[in-house]
Amino acid sequence: MSELTQGVTVSADPGAGFGLAGKVAIVTGAASGIGRATAELLANAGAIVTAVDINPKGFAGLDLGKDGSTDTADLSVPAACDQVVESVIRRHGRLDILVNAAAILRRVAIKDVDAALWEQMMDTNLLSQFAMCRAAVRPMRKQRSGRVVVIASTAAFNGGADNSSVYAIGKGGALALAKSLARQVAADGITVNAVAPGGIDTPMGRFGFTEESWNAHYQKNVPLRRAGQPEEVARAILFLVSDWGSYVTGHTLDVEGGLMLR
Ligand SMILES: NC(=O)c1ccc[n+]([C@@H]2O[C@H](COP(=O)([O-])OP(=O)(O)OC[C@H]3O[C@@H](n4cnc5c(N)ncnc54)[C@H](O)[C@@H]3O)[C@@H](O)[C@H]2O)c1
Repeated sequence: MSELTQGVTVSADPGAGFGLAGKVAIVTGAASGIGRATAELLANAGAIVTAVDINPKGFAGLDLGKDGSTDTADLSVPAACDQVVESVIRRHGRLDILVNAAAILRRVAIKDVDAALWEQMMDTNLLSQFAMCRAAVRPMRKQRSGRVVVIASTAAFNGGADNSSVYAIGKGGALALAKSLARQVAADGITVNAVAPGGIDTPMGRFGFTEESWNAHYQKNVPLRRAGQPEEVARAILFLVSDWGSYVTGHTLDVEGGLMLR
């Protein structure tokens, strides 16, 4: 083993687990859909999860095990992102994992996008991810370890559904954020990756569809001929934040049933 790989041990035993027991995690957007499924999966794998969302009602029934907790915050405000991370550090003394799943979708034609809509969408979908990452890597750098996952979308590659340009632009920004941050914090032992979901069965994914048009859309456009489940995205995220993803950084993992085939 060279000096550079000293301290890096990789188990060849698949039964060794994901290495998430006792890891301290923040999952945003955790009251619904992908964030919720991720918070529960990480907690189930042994992580101490703080689930964050603007909508506290959505936390009803969320199962984070005995060590998990919830935090209500509007993450479109950077100071709130700082507070979320500071509160976790006060309670647990460290932060190992950040998953940014909070976002909104508004479908408005470019010609009708005004400054208020632009600001609301970009602050919620991109500035929030930036501010959460900035706050999270402070303690991670001190620890010299950490895992960050930003959530992009296939919209970053194909422009998204009709009239969702501002959403798509924000998701393109999220991809650039992941790559740029990955480069800056790699030497501190922190990995940063993006996940790009396609159509996933959540309130956001179903927006604008009837049951009939939803099924017809996936039959026609997606090679796997169905939408994804939020738990299927959560599993991809778990891979990236677990011991199994230890040598993956700056990557974009498409979870989209073959929609892009890129
Ligand atoms: N569902 C899909 O088809 C799909 C496809 C591609 C990407 N995505 C992305 O996956 C992520 C999760 O989406 P989802 O489908 O689970 O959506 P969802 O609407 O089910 O959940 C999003 C959550 O974010 C929360 N949120 C919104 N604004 C917030 C704010 N200012 N502060 C804190 N929390 C806030 C909402 O309250 C909600 O609980 C998002 O980043 C979304 O853009 C979803």
